[in-house]
Amino acid sequence: MDKLMVFSGNANLNLAKEICKYLKIRLSDALVTRFSEGEIRVKINENVRGKDVFVIQPTCPPPNENLMELLIMLDALKRASAYRITAVIPYFGYARQDRKDQPRVPITAKLVANLLTVAGADRILTIDLHAGQIQGFFDIPLDHLYAVGVFLDYFKKLKLKDITVVSPDVGGIKMARAYAKRFAAELAIIDKRRISPERTEAMHILGEVKNRNVIIVDDLIATGGSLIDAITVLKKAGAKDIYAAITHGVLSGDAVKNIDRCNDLKELVITDTIPLIEAKRYPRIKVVSVASLLGEAIRRIHFEESVSSLFD
Ligand code: R5P
Repeated sequence: MDKLMVFSGNANLNLAKEICKYLKIRLSDALVTRFSEGEIRVKINENVRGKDVFVIQPTCPPPNENLMELLIMLDALKRASAYRITAVIPYFGYARQDRKDQPRVPITAKLVANLLTVAGADRILTIDLHAGQIQGFFDIPLDHLYAVGVFLDYFKKLKLKDITVVSPDVGGIKMARAYAKRFAAELAIIDKRRISPERTEAMHILGEVKNRNVIIVDDLIATGGSLIDAITVLKKAGAKDIYAAITHGVLSGDAVKNIDRCNDLKELVITDTIPLIEAKRYPRIKVVSVASLLGEAIRRIHFEESVSSLFD
């Protein structure tokens, strides 16, 4: 392990520390601060020459600050002659614009992939991308992990019966199907129509939810609008207890307060890919950790072992 080093930007220091705990190594030392005018100042305080370096940094809010910190850290590590640099991006932001679905719009997911590669990333490690095909935006190796196992461990303890896994929109079918398989549950889909990038209107339910315990699964929750719409239709359709398992808690604006007020939601379970300081204060929101999943993936990448069993 003497060649393995883990660094972190400021986006999710706690997760980085937990990963190091799993790996039984200390977090390596880097200064990631600001110059007086706000520019990011980075100094790697340890020798990284010939080392296998992992940088933990989700590009969660504030996304531009966190992305830029990551890019500058990669640049510093590359110039310091690290042997291999893996950008560990537990939450890969800027992913929702992943295709040109209207005239004159960018493909930010591709732009970010290019930026990371040019900055010095040799590999990427991430969890539950908004769309699996974003992997193809990179011409460097990318390991895509899934949080489903972490959620499964949590829900097993609740001993729920008659579960239906629900995708809140048609785009999430693949993810929901994987959950339904692992949870040995039925599958349902909400036919959701998007009115604008920020607003959606929930429509019909395809599948059986009446008198069933429901787990809504999604890759991310931002405003919480999609989740609350889904809960409303599911309740109307006679669902019993409604849970949600959502990987990335972006939780923008009043999302946390709106979720807390939503009495039809039993629990929202989120991972710690993004720090959830405010959300942790609300009993309806539960946090499960991806630190061991990422730690194990890092260990295997370092020792050139297969990581595919972590994909199950
Ligand atoms: C949509 O494609 C995503 O998977 C999420 O359902 C959506 O982005 C969540 O956003 P919000 O919480 O703002 O409705």
